Amino acid sequence: MNKTISPSAGLKGRIKIPGDKSISHRAVMFGSIAKGDTVITGFLRGDDCMSTIDCFRRLGVDIDVTDDKVVVHGKGMRDLKAPDGILDVGNSGTTIRLISGILAAQDFDTVLNGDASIQKRPMNRVIKPLGLMGADIESTNDGYAPLTIHGKRLKAMEYTMPVASAQVKSAILLASLFAEGDTIINEPVASRDHTEIMLNYFGADIKNKDGVITSKPAKELYGGEIEVPGDISSAAFFMAAGLIVPNSHIIIENVGINPTRTGIIDAFKAMGGDISIINERSSGGEAVGDIEVRTSRLKAITLEGSIIPRMIDEIPVFAVAALCAEGTTVVKNAEELKVKESNRIATMSEELKKLGVAVEETDDGMIIAGGQRLKGGEVYSHLDHRVAMSCAVAGLAAESPVTITDADCVGISFPDFYEVLEKL
Ligand code: S3P
Repeated sequence: MNKTISPSAGLKGRIKIPGDKSISHRAVMFGSIAKGDTVITGFLRGDDCMSTIDCFRRLGVDIDVTDDKVVVHGKGMRDLKAPDGILDVGNSGTTIRLISGILAAQDFDTVLNGDASIQKRPMNRVIKPLGLMGADIESTNDGYAPLTIHGKRLKAMEYTMPVASAQVKSAILLASLFAEGDTIINEPVASRDHTEIMLNYFGADIKNKDGVITSKPAKELYGGEIEVPGDISSAAFFMAAGLIVPNSHIIIENVGINPTRTGIIDAFKAMGGDISIINERSSGGEAVGDIEVRTSRLKAITLEGSIIPRMIDEIPVFAVAALCAEGTTVVKNAEELKVKESNRIATMSEELKKLGVAVEETDDGMIIAGGQRLKGGEVYSHLDHRVAMSCAVAGLAAESPVTITDADCVGISFPDFYEVLEKL
């Protein structure tokens, strides 16, 4: 599908956005290995989270999906069954990395594979630490999927994270529940902590003291109710659009504002953006609020260090906003962007160039001269949902319409993105 986005004279209104992708995945996975039912409301029914549901159904878990909720009838930690073929994670890095931590400890073997993008995403980052715990994971493709996991008895370890990655940390934490002894993870730069919050809510014992995370083995986990807040990574497209499209005023309701995820709000505020959190509350240990944003004159900033993992998925759309700021924005320490659904440094630079603006690629980020005029044109999503939605935001602020080819990949994380945009 192609989608054409016309320049907007102003975006106004209140919107709701779909559930948080990270939390939705975790609710299904942790619910599956917990005892009792986990009732999930606000679940993101995007392709990635549906891949997680599919994998756990194939591992013998009954999961009911209805209009208003998902109910996972948990099997407990030791009652998954061997699937009768390859488990397909589709496009989902979160699924393949987190599930590896669970499957490594089962008493059966599994094979995991996914789409062409998944087969280019590094898996040694989970194979290596899980191997130190006694896991036996084979890659026939030199550190990439497909992966064959031979279930083993695991032991605890102490591990220092070489990159800030919540997916890797979560795989280790899941394995640690099954391992003998206390597992210690040193996390020099914090990544999102939804796993720690939800596993503790389900009865695990995980503590974080100044970046040293200690996890005790669990006898059992117990399912519960999970209310998934809106995904701040999806909200970010509307924050950026609200800031750069003239005459805009948007309220985005019910957004997860866990401090490990709010780098994008901090960055936009530092640029002088009129953006605020209202109506702050908490649900299941996760902070939630509404986000109000108005058109603003933005100033360039330098983005580097510990804020990067707190907004890693939002950097593509941040780059679009930076094009409209005064001065030159520099993004550093963001090499992780190269190993996402696409190489987002390369794909964003390539597509924005087609709209007449220059973004300079660097080894670990990009340099974005502000005040450039976005022209209309045709861009390609690279089958990367966040590239497609970032290009749509560029289209709203451009001089003439922008057509996105292969635009339906937004279904990975935000199936009704174009409808919500239309509403504004
Ligand atoms: C995620 C962690 C991040 C993020 C991804 C979701 C998660 O990846 O980019 O979209 O749910 O744990 P990394 O762990 O690779 O940083």
